[in-house]
Amino acid sequence: MKAYFGRRYTISASHRLNADTLSVEENRAVYGKCNNAHGHGHNYVIEVLVGGEVNAATGMVVDLVALDRAVGERILDRFDHANLNLDPLFRDRVPTTENLCKAVFDLLRNALPEVELEHVRVEETENNFFECSTRG
Ligand code: NI
Repeated sequence: MKAYFGRRYTISASHRLNADTLSVEENRAVYGKCNNAHGHGHNYVIEVLVGGEVNAATGMVVDLVALDRAVGERILDRFDHANLNLDPLFRDRVPTTENLCKAVFDLLRNALPEVELEHVRVEETENNFFECSTRG
């Protein structure tokens, strides 16, 4: 039977929502205050859920140290205290939290061979969250 392990991480980052394909007026209409020229910040909470068989020797689904290292190197070092608009991943994509969630999922997808990355959830505010999963 498969078992799952989830862990939360936090980052602070800034972004400005502006689509190059839209006019100034359209961007203002679509994104509202999030289109303000100087951007704004969020304290994002990133939840990572991995699944796999419980290791018979350790009794664990995943090596926590290895998971923290992978998330640290691939996500936290990259995005914490960063301007998301300047990251190459968002050169052609608006740094919405939907796209941040997808980026986190793609960056972690093959990070840990012994488990499958099942689910990534990113909370942008206490009211908004976004999810990506292998379920489609
Ligand atoms: Ni925002």
